[in-house]
Amino acid sequence: MTADEAVSAAEEHPGQPGDPCVMVIFGAAGDLTKRKLIPALYNLAKGTLLSKEFAVVGVARAGMTTEEFRRKLGQDMQEFATEQIDPGLWEWLGQRLYYLPGNFSDPAVYRDLRTLLDKVDTDHGTRGNYFYYLATSPGYFAEIVRHLGETGLAREENGRWRRVIIEKPFGRDLDSARALNREISQILSESQIYRIDHYLGKETVQNILVFRFANGIFEPIWNRRYVDHVQITVAETVGVEQRGGYYEEAGTLRDMVPNHISQLISLTAMEPPISFEANAVRDEQAKILRAIQPLTPEEVLVRAVRGQYGEGMMEGARVPAYRAEPKVAPDSATETFVALKLSIDNWRWADVPFYLRTGKRLPSRVTEIAIQFKRAPLILFRKTPVDRLTPNRLVLHIQPDEGISLRFGAKVPGPVVRLGSVDMAFQYKDYFGSKPSTGYERLLYDCMTGDATLFQRADMVEAGWSVVAPILDVWKALPPRSFPNYAAGTWGPREADELLERDGRQWRRSDK
Ligand code: BG6
Repeated sequence: MTADEAVSAAEEHPGQPGDPCVMVIFGAAGDLTKRKLIPALYNLAKGTLLSKEFAVVGVARAGMTTEEFRRKLGQDMQEFATEQIDPGLWEWLGQRLYYLPGNFSDPAVYRDLRTLLDKVDTDHGTRGNYFYYLATSPGYFAEIVRHLGETGLAREENGRWRRVIIEKPFGRDLDSARALNREISQILSESQIYRIDHYLGKETVQNILVFRFANGIFEPIWNRRYVDHVQITVAETVGVEQRGGYYEEAGTLRDMVPNHISQLISLTAMEPPISFEANAVRDEQAKILRAIQPLTPEEVLVRAVRGQYGEGMMEGARVPAYRAEPKVAPDSATETFVALKLSIDNWRWADVPFYLRTGKRLPSRVTEIAIQFKRAPLILFRKTPVDRLTPNRLVLHIQPDEGISLRFGAKVPGPVVRLGSVDMAFQYKDYFGSKPSTGYERLLYDCMTGDATLFQRADMVEAGWSVVAPILDVWKALPPRSFPNYAAGTWGPREADELLERDGRQWRRSDK
């Protein structure tokens, strides 16, 4: 199939516009709104996936009028839009933006919101369908939901729907995640709750399911008989930037593992769902997360590695140590790197280690899942230098170079038998072009159409926290003694390499 054929096949089903509705953004003056949410809505409108009966109400503490809010977002779009802005389309969207200043703890704000929403419904035909996007600090999540409940703004009746999208972090450990689930479930039914994980908005992450279950050839070998181990790398070059305050409380384990990395594990390892209906998919994801064997305290010591970056060189420039970043304690014990060896206790994956690593200030920005297969029997090639041959490896490149590659052995041309390793590589951009997006389009659209497949259910969030709970406990009890233990611009502490070397393996070189 040529690239053109691939694209036209994909465009045959562009999708119906979302339901008429109002998106209410709590925390609308913050970064997420201007960087992601508004550009994503614009892209949806451009692709005709936004209903003509649509509006946005921003709520935040900053004193601003609706006119100022529209003007501000118009300016922000100049910086954050992913495509050239069509002035007519922006004007259409701009006229549908409203702003309500107020404190999220003040009950009067919710009464004002109700009045404003009635007016917006009348002016824009949005039919009382609302989804609330909680882009606030997590301390407000439960409180906002409670107020929405008290004002009747969460009640679904007469065919109107009311949904709530909750940003991460959802809790800071298992107990607080459970408590939050309990609190919000007093007001909302599970079908109204959309716990967002922006990794599920990435095309390549969604493609894991398509790759595995829309092709007949991979599933038969996707198991312990053929797979030696799995490596998941989520490497970032950035440091903590201006987020020192948050990061000191969170650390890499909380920030990345119970959410983004757990999603990658569950999609890679889950059983085929019985349908692509939201709960069927999420049942299988939850099952995998529950099958991850909790580490014992002794195992934490050998299977969980933590690191913190010191000063180092990145792209030829000297960068400061984590402890010298703004709002970070000079003796901080917060980790900026984590490597783990996890096991999934089920028939498909018994004895297949899943190695994960993620961190800040690593040498390149790369997110990928590498499935390494067992070696072929070597008998045929006894007299050739096969010991140096890399085993077959399938790599799902999540970002930045989106694609899939398969490494296999091939004969090096010539009179003697020599084997080389080659890659068969598919790159999204070669087939489908690269359509810039914020990664939030699909998630917002799904919420407007009531499809929760790509959102986390309560049990998934809790299972994600259960995976890291024993590690959090041990690390809290035993503060690190060797921080900082890797230089910025390197692949983490030595112990991360030893984690694999002990098993006779090594990390895939992910440098570009
Ligand atoms: C966020 C984390 O959820 O994900 C950040 O809080 C991290 O620390 C980011 O940088 C990574 O997302 P992406 O899409 O850049 O891989």
